[in-house]
Amino acid sequence: MKTFKNIGLLTSGGDSPGMNAAIRAIVRTATYHQVQPFGIMRGYQGMIEGEILPLQTTDVSNIIQRGGTMLKTARSKEFMTSEGMQKAYEQLMRHNIEALVLIGGDGTFRGATAFFEQYNIPAIGLPGTIDNDLNGTDFTIGFDTAVNTAVEAIDKIRDTAAAHDRLFIIEVMGRDAGYIALHSGIACGAEHVFIPEQQEILDEILHSIQDDQKRKKLTNIIVVAEGDEYGGALKLQQTIQKAMPTIESRVSILGHIQRGGSPTANDRMLASRLGHAAVEALLQGKSMMMAGMVNNEVVFTPFASCTKLQKPMPHDLMAMIHVLAK
Ligand code: F6P
Repeated sequence: MKTFKNIGLLTSGGDSPGMNAAIRAIVRTATYHQVQPFGIMRGYQGMIEGEILPLQTTDVSNIIQRGGTMLKTARSKEFMTSEGMQKAYEQLMRHNIEALVLIGGDGTFRGATAFFEQYNIPAIGLPGTIDNDLNGTDFTIGFDTAVNTAVEAIDKIRDTAAAHDRLFIIEVMGRDAGYIALHSGIACGAEHVFIPEQQEILDEILHSIQDDQKRKKLTNIIVVAEGDEYGGALKLQQTIQKAMPTIESRVSILGHIQRGGSPTANDRMLASRLGHAAVEALLQGKSMMMAGMVNNEVVFTPFASCTKLQKPMPHDLMAMIHVLAK
């Protein structure tokens, strides 16, 4: 067992529902092991600027159910410079912080790796992003909530789509990742899903919509990830409209509502288990690894292997959509 007097924790990158539940688990597990947790505000930027405060167990009361992050978050460009890292290191030393727990995505882990190489500060990461685009975990903290938010919205849109016999193109978040589109699309019975990882053949989709029209299946739901090759919902609508001028279509962009709201029970469970495991892992001497959940077991994956590129895309689910929507 290692002993640390003080550890720091931060949230970085886009916030995701469940980050607060993870903060709570980290603070309470550290305190249980007589380690003093310090909250670092606004991610790496707050570390540079010395916005660091000790946290007691009562400071994390009544947050498990809240979206956002009590520590706030940011994407810091300054931390990527050697001057920024030097300032951050000096601030950690002022508070005698010997190790870190980081909640964020692969940008967060890249920052921690560069920092460790320079200053040898051990760190354990938690996957905190709605995008689910990290290898080493079946699901990231916030993904389940974001998908449920999208599903609730798409169900409502389907009511009006059916009432008017319209084609709806609904854009969900995911600049580089299509997991929210894929899961919400399947859960809502979407006819088509467009994701960045797999290019759909537009002609085939147009053909299928025309076919549906002939069969008097006039309501069509297309879910598109914002980062899809065809350029998001508005561009896709233009393309479809050009090919089929008589079809009536509408666009709905769900946007940041997917990032907020009270986390689902699944996200709270995931955040609690991983937050607890992260502190225990640091005390066991683990470092530069992400705590993830694979087949309902906590596993640790080196930061370098956590990137999206290494996460296998479930192409079988894409194929299934066309079968189920007919
Ligand atoms: O990484 C999460 C995410 O919500 C992406 O899906 C989205 O593209 C991006 O963040 C948006 O970031 P911002 O809120 O900074 O515009």
